[in-house]
Amino acid sequence: MIPPSASAEALQFSQVEALEILDSRGRPTLQVTVAFANGVTGAAGVPSGASTGSKEAAERRDGDQSRYRGLGVLGAAAAVRGEIADLLRSHRWRDLAEIDAAMIDLDGTPNKTRLGANAIVGVSMACARAIASAEGRELWEWLAPAGVAPQLPVPHFNVINGGVHAPNPLDFQEFMIAPLGASSLPEAVRAGAEVYGALRSLLTRKGHSTGLGDEGGFAPQLSEPEQALELLTTAIGEAGYTAGPQGVAIALDPAASEFRGGDGYYTVAGQKLTSADMIERYAQITRRFPVWLIEDGLAEDDWDGWQALTGRLGDRVQLVGDDIFVTNPAIIADAISRGVGNAALIKVNQIGTVTETLEAMAVCRRGGYAQFVSHRSGETTDTFIADLATGSGCGELKTGAPARGERVAKYNRLLEITAARPELPYGLASGPPPSAHER
Ligand code: PGA
Ligand code: ZN
Repeated sequence: MIPPSASAEALQFSQVEALEILDSRGRPTLQVTVAFANGVTGAAGVPSGASTGSKEAAERRDGDQSRYRGLGVLGAAAAVRGEIADLLRSHRWRDLAEIDAAMIDLDGTPNKTRLGANAIVGVSMACARAIASAEGRELWEWLAPAGVAPQLPVPHFNVINGGVHAPNPLDFQEFMIAPLGASSLPEAVRAGAEVYGALRSLLTRKGHSTGLGDEGGFAPQLSEPEQALELLTTAIGEAGYTAGPQGVAIALDPAASEFRGGDGYYTVAGQKLTSADMIERYAQITRRFPVWLIEDGLAEDDWDGWQALTGRLGDRVQLVGDDIFVTNPAIIADAISRGVGNAALIKVNQIGTVTETLEAMAVCRRGGYAQFVSHRSGETTDTFIADLATGSGCGELKTGAPARGERVAKYNRLLEITAARPELPYGLASGPPPSAHER
């Protein structure tokens, strides 16, 4: 699919800059700024994951152990200021698709390893902002594909953290609350914050820690996922909401690639489980708790398991591929043809350009797959994904707890968009799967 084109005037760059800054985990990342000859500028902060899929576009890190334990990004910054800046300043450009394709060519590797996906995605996002601004449009309006109506997404607040995002024994990585039944985006944000507050009180009352994980959710010392779900369902009720699709539903990202061993077994709370056991466990969980969405319920290399899981739960639960699809249009197309999952997680830095991200979303739309726009566990205050989720009309965004500046920045951006354009609809693109209502 062709992303929105720039103005009739060709784009001429005067400046392409990169700065090594810190992300929310205290690790180096890039801030990229571009400027056109007409004075219009655009900037972007690059996110960074911890539970990454093996086929993701590759971040370039310096590996120099004397700085930031090898995690520095001076090489990636130099690639932006050097090779990429030279390319962009070499001639005038028609649109973002042309710029992104040229950066992919210049890199020359399948996974953007040479220049670095962090370098390329930062430039791509900054260019998208600058082009939108040059056209006098809000980023979300500019990102809206032809024929798609923008819509404010249901925010998915990650309020209990486990897995590699927290130092507790909980194997499942993310327990999210999704105000599917809210009447508007501001009411959804309010529900998220009120349930988060109720959960804090409940954890304190029960003697659990209220320390936080990487995405701002609580990280209590629990091991069984059902214990976390029990607490969450109680907190939703104590905050005055109905637990379920008519009020506040629950979404899970077990991030199962992280707890599947080389022997093919999944280890949950010390128990070794087969793929079939996991599917049975999810079937029980969705009967017992108002879980409407499961992301990465099985590992990225367990395609047979994914197919079986989709056959078992796909008609009533949104099954989202993250590590398994890595926002890659070709992998998503393959999954659609094989009936694997029914939705894709969308992370711009996972594929490495805005153009390819929009392509992945278009592949999903054509195949009837939902799209769930996502932050990374390492973030900056950049709010690009709030605009992407709104402009694409996909109806779903996850960007952590309703706490911590880098997470809240995205929710606050949605509130700003709502205030500027109160007529925008709020909610899922096509409503929850039918039988989520009749659990
Ligand atoms: P990551 O985790 O950003 O650490 O990869 C997010 C996710 O798994 O969805
Ligand atoms: Zn995930």
